[in-house]
Amino acid sequence: MKTLVVCYSRTGHTRMLAGQIAVGMNAEIEEITDRVTRRGLLGYLRSGKEAWLRRRTKILPLRNDASAFDLVIVGGPVWSASLSSPVRTYLEDHAAALPQVAFFCTMGRVGSDRVFRQMQDACGRRPLATFARTERQLASPALPRAVETFVSQLHATHLLDAVYGRAATHAPVAPSRIS
Ligand SMILES: Cc1cc2nc3c(=O)[nH]c(=O)nc-3n(C[C@H](O)[C@H](O)[C@H](O)COP(=O)(O)O)c2cc1C
Repeated sequence: MKTLVVCYSRTGHTRMLAGQIAVGMNAEIEEITDRVTRRGLLGYLRSGKEAWLRRRTKILPLRNDASAFDLVIVGGPVWSASLSSPVRTYLEDHAAALPQVAFFCTMGRVGSDRVFRQMQDACGRRPLATFARTERQLASPALPRAVETFVSQLHATHLLDAVYGRAATHAPVAPSRIS
């Protein structure tokens, strides 16, 4: 399964997790970058506001064409219990090109369920699987085992899709009203 991992990371947590997922999936990895300064208190406040208001941002073009892969695994941080603006922009801009998708995110404590719903709405694709880790879980020795489970889940779901058809996971979905 030709796989691409795409992530945005402001402070490195999601980047670290993306690296482990990419190794587990034997995948290419690529990072979303935007032109906005997000350092310090002002950067924090600006980021939180953008996410809460579901704003987009300007992101740089990515090296890889998503449509050349069987699976694209997209991840980013939870901001204000919402999808971060760089990941939102990536998913909206590449919705038509995305093959099967899976999502992951990192967070202080809470917000992943809402973020996964917003990711699904942003690209109109139902994920094969999702994977969320808190900062504490990222620092735990149990992390590699959890990543392994996520990777196995992706392989198993992909296999089921190949046998029974893609309709269950690949079909575009109507936006949810509760995100
Ligand atoms: C603007 C902003 C808002 C955040 N809001 C939340 C939140 O609502 N819930 C939460 O659990 N963590 C929140 N966090 C913490 C991040 O989700 C967490 O630190 C994440 O791992 C950062 O990932 P990164 O290092 O890849 O940028 C927020 C962080 C920022 C910068």
